[in-house]
Amino acid sequence: MRYLKKSMNISEKIKNDFPFFEKTGVAYLDSAATSQTPQVVLDAMEAYYTIFRANVHRGLYGLSAEATERFEGARETIAQFIGASKEEIIFTGSATMSSNLLTYALENTLELREGDEILLSAMEHHSSIVPLQELAQRKKLKLVYIPLAEGFALDYKEAKRLITPRTKIVAVMRASNVLGTINDVRAISQTARKNGAIMIVDATSAAGHAPLSVKDLDCDYLYFSGHKMCGPTGIGVLYGRRDFLEKLYPGFFGGGMIDRVTREKSSWREVPGRFEAGTPPIAEAIGLAAAAEYINEIGFPAIREQIEDVFSYARETLSRIPNVSIYARTDARENAGILSFTIKGVHPHDAAEILSRENVAIRAGHHCAEPLLSELGETALCRASFYFYNTRGDADRLAAGIKKAKATLRA
Ligand SMILES: Cc1ncc(COP(=O)(O)O)c(C=O)c1O
Repeated sequence: MRYLKKSMNISEKIKNDFPFFEKTGVAYLDSAATSQTPQVVLDAMEAYYTIFRANVHRGLYGLSAEATERFEGARETIAQFIGASKEEIIFTGSATMSSNLLTYALENTLELREGDEILLSAMEHHSSIVPLQELAQRKKLKLVYIPLAEGFALDYKEAKRLITPRTKIVAVMRASNVLGTINDVRAISQTARKNGAIMIVDATSAAGHAPLSVKDLDCDYLYFSGHKMCGPTGIGVLYGRRDFLEKLYPGFFGGGMIDRVTREKSSWREVPGRFEAGTPPIAEAIGLAAAAEYINEIGFPAIREQIEDVFSYARETLSRIPNVSIYARTDARENAGILSFTIKGVHPHDAAEILSRENVAIRAGHHCAEPLLSELGETALCRASFYFYNTRGDADRLAAGIKKAKATLRA
């Protein structure tokens, strides 16, 4: 490991890898919205733009061959990052694009009948809920939700009861972007499999924050965005089980995904190419692979240690502030570094605004999870999200900012 010895606090050193921190001095606690970018990722993308920029899978000249090689190499790196094979990795523009592509492709493939059910967890992000809602409307399917149990976890007993032979699709996120809860997806996927349902996992809040293995999760499809795991914006990943991808009809059409085109009809490339219509996000895929390599180099044991330490410290510090309510499990090992809270008498938007004046960046609002917020009986929450570059010092600045917000608004 290049960066640390076992018990060393990694984050002060790690911050030096990110130009953002030196330039801004911000206590950045919004990595669940988007993470910061290390220099190695910027360098990898700059190399593409300055040294070997060309389109992929098209040109026969050297530069195009090099761009193709690097792009396909990025696919291999991402496959290894989640324990998949190269043919199972589709590059998209974002997690949202992955979710939409998958929904269209499933609609084109599955025999869905009126009254069939789609089961979602109560924690899902709008990017998984809304495409599936649209599918449900088009095909007259029923949407069913797995409720929350005590302690900001999913009700697994209820999940198992709700999966029946009528269930065709199950969508459960690996980690909640609001509560931070890391869900036991495997406990649900096994019941889904027994009932012949397809298991989809939104891993956007978990990727780069905790180890991710499609085999351990036992899922059929999984997706995430690059920009929440130190990668660039404009890149998403969609994993699909090889045998499933072989049978999946494409969702988007155009150049790049075809084998032959006649005036009347077309045939498709092998997987995964048939799911990548048009010029793919080349520099972004290369940047994402550099991010995955950077994360691997630091290592998940060190990453988890740091996230769990800062989360626990922040949770304890905030819970000592009167009238602050916390929406997260107590055990840091079950959390992806996300701490949502409210302050009695201070609207979350006002809190975020006052913290911003103190150079502390948190997010406030419904976090694209309105059904979850209504189950919690809230319309908005403050959310501090920690990544491995955050320190206890950042948590102290958060606590000081909250006290300032309370004093300013006399709450
Ligand atoms: C859990 C989760 N899923 C999906 C998304 C959508 O990601 P993107 O906006 O990059 O498409 C987000 C973004 O906030 C998220 O937090």
